[in-house]
Amino acid sequence: MCGIVGYIGVKPADYIILNALKKLEYRGYDSAGISLLTAQGNIYTEKEKGKIVNLESLIFEKNKKISSYCGIGHTRWATHGEPSMINAHPHTDCAENISVVHNGIIENYTQLKKELIEKGHSFKSETDTEVVPHILEDYLKETDDILEAVNNTIEKLEGAYALAIILSGQEPVIIGVRKGSPLVMGVGDKDYFLASDIPAFLEYTNNVIFLDDNEIVILKKFSYDIYRKNEKITKQINKIKWDAAQAQKSGYKHYMLKEIYEQPEAVKNTILDKVNFTKKEINFENFDESIISLLKECSNITITACGTSWHAGLIGKFLIESLTDVTVEVDYASELRYREKFIKPNSLLIAVSQSGETADTLEVIKKYKKLNAKVLSICNVLGSSIPRESNYTIYTHAGPEISVASTKAFTTQVTVFLLLALYIARKRNSVNNEDFENYIEIMKNLPALLENTINATANMDKIAPELSKYSNYLYLGRGINYPVALEGALKLKEISYIHAEGYPGGEMKHGPLALIDENFPSVILLPKDSLYEKMFGNLNEIKSRRGKVVLFTSDSNIYDNLNDYADYIFKIPDCDKFFQPIVYVIPLQLLSYYIADFKGCDIDQPRNLAKSVTVE
Ligand code: AGP
Repeated sequence: MCGIVGYIGVKPADYIILNALKKLEYRGYDSAGISLLTAQGNIYTEKEKGKIVNLESLIFEKNKKISSYCGIGHTRWATHGEPSMINAHPHTDCAENISVVHNGIIENYTQLKKELIEKGHSFKSETDTEVVPHILEDYLKETDDILEAVNNTIEKLEGAYALAIILSGQEPVIIGVRKGSPLVMGVGDKDYFLASDIPAFLEYTNNVIFLDDNEIVILKKFSYDIYRKNEKITKQINKIKWDAAQAQKSGYKHYMLKEIYEQPEAVKNTILDKVNFTKKEINFENFDESIISLLKECSNITITACGTSWHAGLIGKFLIESLTDVTVEVDYASELRYREKFIKPNSLLIAVSQSGETADTLEVIKKYKKLNAKVLSICNVLGSSIPRESNYTIYTHAGPEISVASTKAFTTQVTVFLLLALYIARKRNSVNNEDFENYIEIMKNLPALLENTINATANMDKIAPELSKYSNYLYLGRGINYPVALEGALKLKEISYIHAEGYPGGEMKHGPLALIDENFPSVILLPKDSLYEKMFGNLNEIKSRRGKVVLFTSDSNIYDNLNDYADYIFKIPDCDKFFQPIVYVIPLQLLSYYIADFKGCDIDQPRNLAKSVTVE
């Protein structure tokens, strides 16, 4: 996620904006920039790849002290266009009378950019953002009414965005626009702030206005107006009671909980630039004829990853094999890199990695490329090593994942696998039109389904005291939910240090059942699907051996004697089988979080673990 800031008031804008950007560094970024309105009414812009300190030296050490009381700033988390100075924000129009910073994705930027170039506009960057100042430039030639020009501009934009805009001229003004990405406003004594997140200006004011989608704010020296389209509205000023550390977690106690709650937004952003809901199409950026024909013709695919990403790969196998005739094998990268195996020419390797820096996964990619295999990576960090080594990359747009325990990366990776499986099936004609369009329709409602699931299972903290007493857990799932059981077990062990094993339900009789007694609880995933009766049998086996059970089952499950078999029952919104992993993993994330929190564990930085394992 990029970070936006804006300032207008009586303090030196360069210092305020740079300081505000530093408060957003926790969001992760690869470049930063600032635009200031000078006393002469011109726009002065500096931007640089890397950390904010690089930007500071550009502004302060070169004696470029600019006297300014109005400006915007940006930390970039690259989604379109590699991390570079040129692609860093702010971006300006041809005449540099307009400067814009943006957080989000402008889906239709390619078409807009083509039209603008045909009209004579010249572009400098590869970003989607740069279309905004050029569109606004044209509308400001038609009217002096800023609100009208901004409304006309955003009418042309499709996607999710938060914008902050300054204009050259004698009267300082900052325009803020929110549509699908967060934007908050700080109300100071003699100044106003705009930001993606409250920490940016919390040290100056705790009076906050939360802008909502399709709202525009026009900030002037000592006044502001907020509009919904052309209608002026008034918004409540909220007094925020957080300290700075709490604010970076948006008030959540830990990044992990914040990132669990961010999953509906992360999944929405991951889908946004891949699915055209009107045309009912799936497309991946930079997919050329070579990868498309490989996906059409290949007979087998190898998926490789580590940890949580490996669990996502197991689900990817299930999805691709359910929807196509392709055989998929999934291998730990730490194993595959040393495995002596014949790699067929024209093979496809799919490498999954949130960080894009995991050493074992990177080594497998290099091994396959040496043997002329094609590599498609699924990654969350643009410009990281794995995408750079891969022939193709599909990005999850989960935003920075700070907590070591991976949550929103997993749900967005599985979302990408579902889109990829449907894409391959479409290309191989192995899914009929009706089913394909039905899955696209469900995809549209997936963020809301995740919201409902979080709300349905958020009270997991009530059972944490009792469940934190045990030293061992068994997690059981079947079919597409077996990897979810593995992921739930990994979450519990890595943040609460309680031992947990994930197993396919059908394996119980082959050993694990020997473990079950009143001191060895089981967590069971029991969706109402074709394997329900089999899974119910596992429930019976465990209960008859006095094993405690935490049960996650479908809303529609009408077995009224479930209480005879489970000690804790959580109902999960019904959903199609292919969407179950994305939905059922959420309560398992919350369960592990609340148990670890009750135990007082260091949830965001568990002992012995690193967020990205860049060493073997
Ligand atoms: C999962 O919660 C862990 N953080 C870990 O297993 C992680 O998934 C693994 O190290 C792979 O990381 P990557 O996705 O960045 O490659």
